Amino acid sequence: MKTLKVGICGLGTVGGGVLSLLRRGGAEPARRLGMPVKVVHVASRSLNGEPVASMPQSKARPLVGAAKLSTDPFAVVDDPQVDVVVETLGGFDPARQLVARALEAGKHVVTANKALLAEHGNELFELARQKNLQLAYEAAVGGGIPLIKVLREGLAANRIDYIAGIINGTGNYILSAMAAGHRPFAEVLKEAQDRGYAEADPAFDIEGTDAAHKLTIMAAIAFGIPLRFNEVYIEGISRITPEDIAYAGELGYRIKHLGIARRSAAGGAAGGDAEGLSMRVHPALVPASALLAQIDGIGNGVLVGASPLGPTLYNGPGAGGDATASAVVADLVDIGRDVMSGATRPRLPPLGRYEVDESLPQAERDASLPSLGIEDIETEYYLRIPVQDKLGVMARISSVLEAHAISIEAVIQKEALSDTVPIVLLTHRVPEHRLNDALTALQSLPEVQGNITRIRVENLGSE
Ligand code: HSE
Repeated sequence: MKTLKVGICGLGTVGGGVLSLLRRGGAEPARRLGMPVKVVHVASRSLNGEPVASMPQSKARPLVGAAKLSTDPFAVVDDPQVDVVVETLGGFDPARQLVARALEAGKHVVTANKALLAEHGNELFELARQKNLQLAYEAAVGGGIPLIKVLREGLAANRIDYIAGIINGTGNYILSAMAAGHRPFAEVLKEAQDRGYAEADPAFDIEGTDAAHKLTIMAAIAFGIPLRFNEVYIEGISRITPEDIAYAGELGYRIKHLGIARRSAAGGAAGGDAEGLSMRVHPALVPASALLAQIDGIGNGVLVGASPLGPTLYNGPGAGGDATASAVVADLVDIGRDVMSGATRPRLPPLGRYEVDESLPQAERDASLPSLGIEDIETEYYLRIPVQDKLGVMARISSVLEAHAISIEAVIQKEALSDTVPIVLLTHRVPEHRLNDALTALQSLPEVQGNITRIRVENLGSE
């Protein structure tokens, strides 16, 4: 092979970014690889908002260069000129069929499609394994930050204890802007969409699904398990208010939307008896002094607790065309190297082997890292309780917490400006199921005037 010939399916933010990167800066990946990386065929229904079907060549050429231009992405897959298919359509259909068809045809695939991999990756990776082909996905997690390579190769000598990260750029952009300028949620979301950070359906970003997809993929590599998207607890940021951000600040914390996958040892931090893996996406109070708390805007940051190495932090642009294109092109270079060296073993997530103790029988290894439910975690909590401003309220709240063996770490109560006043408190560590029981009891107190806000606190590996 003298040139790595690439076909791109979908020219949105990601695919358009890959095409543009290779046209502008193709010399650098070619130098590293030792052969040119050339886009030979692209498929898109529109270019710059104009339908491709009715676009004259004179208008299309400056946009796609010498590449053949189709409207049907399957034409790219079926093109014998194409060695590697880049799937940047997003979504499930037809992306799923397209990736499968490319693999069936013996072509390596690069995808940025975290939703597809998190929810259908087990079957697609199995197909890639059978065909001895790469199904590469660096761009699916953390934009331009090479997290997949870190977890798969860089930390290969380590046992991973936890991953805790800001892995949705749009959500981080929104929380950062709300905190910096006391701006309303909707206005900041619109800005993130205009800049091309948000998913086609921004609910994926706001409600945490996108972060859960990325967490699923990282956890599979880090913990040697199949993709378990359905076992991730997901909570979004749409209920976070500027008021909570301000109270958290007074307590010495910032609010971040985190994806967390944490292995707990028997009798350990999860408060249960079994070893297990908790996977969850939710807003969290993070100590303001933590490095992760300093990551703002579309930045992503992932803290990995590894043994014996210790914690390491990875930070960089987590969304946008250039960031994602950087990761896609890195995968193309990797695949090119494999092709040139004749490598025949694809580097894919495990299919069900828990890879720590090879001496265990297969069935035991599969069963040895069960997913834990959210009620099994143990952490500290921020509570904002709207109450009537009257004698004895604080005592009633304290006694409910005491009855549930929940200790208070800090309290804020400001002078009342109306009949209802918020009591804001931080608890010490408590299992979530016990906190839930206490919340039910607190919520039914006659003095409590509305819904209690509960936000988990993450001290990032220190527990
Ligand atoms: N919508 C995603 C984000 C894009 O905001 O992080 C990158 O995956």
